[in-house]
Amino acid sequence: MDMNNVNIEEIVKQVLSGMTGNAPAAQAAPAATAAPTADPVIPKTAHVAMLTALEHYEIKEFPMPEVGDDDILVKVEGCGICGTDAHEFKRDPFGLIPVALGHEGTGEIVKMGKNVKVDTAGKPVKVGDKVVTCMIFKDDPEITMFDLNKKNVGGADVYGLLPDDDVHLNGWFSDYILIRGGSFGSTFFNVSDLDLDSRILIEPCAVLIHAVERAKTTGILKFNSRVVVQGCGPIGLICIAILRTMGIENICAVDGNAKRLAFAKKMGADVSVDFTQYKGIEALTEAVKEAQGGHLADFAFQCTGNPHAHANIYKFIRNGGGLCELGFFINGGDATINPHFDLCSKEINLVGSWVYTLRDYATTFDFLKRAKAIGLPMSDLITDRFPLEQINEAHQTNLAMTGLKIAIINK
Ligand SMILES: NC(=O)c1ccc[n+]([C@@H]2O[C@H](COP(=O)([O-])OP(=O)(O)OC[C@H]3O[C@@H](n4cnc5c(N)ncnc54)[C@H](O)[C@@H]3O)[C@@H](O)[C@H]2O)c1
Ligand SMILES: [Zn+2]
Repeated sequence: MDMNNVNIEEIVKQVLSGMTGNAPAAQAAPAATAAPTADPVIPKTAHVAMLTALEHYEIKEFPMPEVGDDDILVKVEGCGICGTDAHEFKRDPFGLIPVALGHEGTGEIVKMGKNVKVDTAGKPVKVGDKVVTCMIFKDDPEITMFDLNKKNVGGADVYGLLPDDDVHLNGWFSDYILIRGGSFGSTFFNVSDLDLDSRILIEPCAVLIHAVERAKTTGILKFNSRVVVQGCGPIGLICIAILRTMGIENICAVDGNAKRLAFAKKMGADVSVDFTQYKGIEALTEAVKEAQGGHLADFAFQCTGNPHAHANIYKFIRNGGGLCELGFFINGGDATINPHFDLCSKEINLVGSWVYTLRDYATTFDFLKRAKAIGLPMSDLITDRFPLEQINEAHQTNLAMTGLKIAIINK
């Protein structure tokens, strides 16, 4: 993704400065239940991939920290590399170095403090359960990420973006992580019923759950809707998968990369259009229309970070149709549209979408189960898997943009 113009820096700074913490991680259960006693064998030291300089991780060894009464020690199984990690790796715009990165991680609880009984959703947790953390503040299920202006925001952890401290086990690019409770304020979920790949994909999938929820507010998405998904990177591909799990079958994927268009069909698109094969927006619009049996789309999702693609997509939508623009996580520049032809006279129902809410995060767990149940190849989104020791190579592969999702998978 293009990360040149970064008002995201401001946002993350805000989040980091807001992480004083006052929400307990795990509430004490009303009725006392026996705390798990059998601890798996826990080594005396843990290993953390610490970003110590630009484009340079070092694997550091630290003593295993004490697990307090509200804390959870997790043996890390794996962690996806996110655009934010790529940004930190290349430029450290937030001045975090030395820092333990990795927030799309998951692993198994190996030790818990006696006060930890349930996760953020109230689901019981025990040693052996698989968990993920979430960047969202836990106080309000509808609160959106980074939204510091709403009431009761409280404290929040952002594991994988915390400055280094005397615990050190603060990011998921590691073999152990300490999820801290008490005044620290951690948001975490028991996701033992999801396989490892699904757990690693939770965060990017939550972005699309939110986008589809935003799209649904227009009232236009129906079983038999014709939907265009423009852009078939991980974001567009997951969008297609979610539409399929909702029973939407008329999906037209638009991209310029033949391999990605083929993947879009495996994810559930029934037709595809390679925009590089058409000169001019009229020819491209005709191609999209033809692919949909002579009809324009009822609804479209814009999943590229290209402003020209934003301007184009209005042409693919019928009068009275809907559009969800989610392709610009950061500023990608201005787009020129004709407000009369593209919006007013067509009465387009436009929604924007950015990140997700805590509720979307939980919905994502159900989506991932459904996607697996109907046989969507979600695991194939993870194109490259590296052991922790090869974290520098993994990040370079991510920067090269040859794959889709790059992940660290621990041995
Ligand atoms: N809304 C959010 O909260 C949110 C969250 C994460 C990412 N994003 C944004 O989503 C966008 C997509 O993310 P990604 O990881 O899939 O990126 P990506 O770069 O892997 O994929 C983008 C795809 O768009 C295609 N494309 C480019 N120009 C096109 C055009 N004119 N017409 C059709 N296809 C075109 C590319 O070939 C590519 O396959 C990014 O710009 C990112 O900033 C938004
Ligand atoms: Zn992420």
